[in-house]
Amino acid sequence: MSTGPRVRPAAGHGLGHRPLPPLSLYVHVPWCVRKCPYCDFNSHEAGPDLPEDDYLDALQADLEQALPLIWGRQVISVFIGGGTPSLLSDRAVERMLTTLRAYLNLLPDAEITLEANPGTAEAGRFKAYAQSGVTRLSLGIQSFNDEALRALGRIHDARQARAAIEMAQNAAQQVNLDLMYALPGQTLQACKDDLATAMSFGTGHLSLYHLTLEPNTVFAKYPPPLPDDDLAAHMHEHIVEATAAGGWEQYEVSAYARPGCRSLHNQNYWTFGDYLGIGPGAHGKLSFHDRIVRQARHRSPESWITRARRRDGSHIAEERIVAPEELAFEFMLNALRLKEGVEIGLFPAHTGLPVTAVLATLKRLEERELVSLQAGRMRATERGWRYLNNVLQEFLD
Ligand SMILES: C[S@@+](CC[C@H](N)C(=O)[O-])C[C@H]1O[C@@H](n2cnc3c(N)ncnc32)[C@H](O)[C@@H]1O
Ligand code: SF4
Repeated sequence: MSTGPRVRPAAGHGLGHRPLPPLSLYVHVPWCVRKCPYCDFNSHEAGPDLPEDDYLDALQADLEQALPLIWGRQVISVFIGGGTPSLLSDRAVERMLTTLRAYLNLLPDAEITLEANPGTAEAGRFKAYAQSGVTRLSLGIQSFNDEALRALGRIHDARQARAAIEMAQNAAQQVNLDLMYALPGQTLQACKDDLATAMSFGTGHLSLYHLTLEPNTVFAKYPPPLPDDDLAAHMHEHIVEATAAGGWEQYEVSAYARPGCRSLHNQNYWTFGDYLGIGPGAHGKLSFHDRIVRQARHRSPESWITRARRRDGSHIAEERIVAPEELAFEFMLNALRLKEGVEIGLFPAHTGLPVTAVLATLKRLEERELVSLQAGRMRATERGWRYLNNVLQEFLD
């Protein structure tokens, strides 16, 4: 019988007996109707029949095996991401959420997000998801321009995008729209039109991503003609100005929210909170009183299903204790993405390291006006945000 790696107690870096960070849950659904040429997520083309029952059995087995790592802890948010979770039937989502509630100490008003592709949207199913407990639907809109959607290899068109938004707004308490900009052949005007259409629906949250060419994707191999850096920068400037004028606050590099509509789940990632990740390829980060552990599940859906159901730990591909010298970098990598930064006290609370581990570097960055240390908070300045990679590099050296 093969066994996956186990967490061994290590010479601790001393989280002491402080309360552990808030805990979220990520559930990965690995299937899509078709693989998009720009996407490097762990997503696989679904055959005619989704193995829903096998997947849910494996998910339950995965969760059961993870329980000793999170005993007694409250779960503040759930993110069902993909892939395309909206490929799951309403019955499957109902079973998934019933299982989560049975095993976890899930806050009664926990934020529960499900990612949906407009090409798989159905009004009845969206309503059923919400009845099962989904509070937030996140739609992969990408663009409202049919030509751009075709160039992105999307399975939906602009009409389906609009219809899906209306269905989501009728079903869920909160709706997020994912859009990308700097698309193949996109003009500044086309980017402005996309954003204006997205804003016209008045959803609480917008995620606006710069299209990136990810290694090992079709776009990396056959790059489409993309806007140059100047044009992409103009698009970004417009996005920042227009969203602010419309009442959405940019609170993270790519996240914009109306007051009260920020994503709790994503904020927990960015403040270096804990998360258990279940499902194929899911990553997790969990704190204990003497160590912080990172985990990754096997990526292949078939392999993960077989291994998780063996209940011998072999579905875990990697498990390791994060070294103290990596923690400072990882904390900053997340926290400095937030426009308002974080309270300085969160650093010792969520890493177990003393503030002195980063204070000299922060002060040096403050002198160069890349970081601001005021009112007990640390945040990147406008300039620091622009050169975030260079700022983060300082925590590696
Ligand atoms: C995992 S997808 C979830 C939604 C669903 N799978 C869909 O695409 O409709 C999350 C989001 O990541 C963004 N994304 C994916 N690949 C990207 C890339 N190469 N560059 C920028 N954003 C990307 C897209 O906006 C996408 O909606
Ligand atoms: S639908 Fe979403 S997850 Fe699936 S391949 Fe396209 S971008 Fe990736």
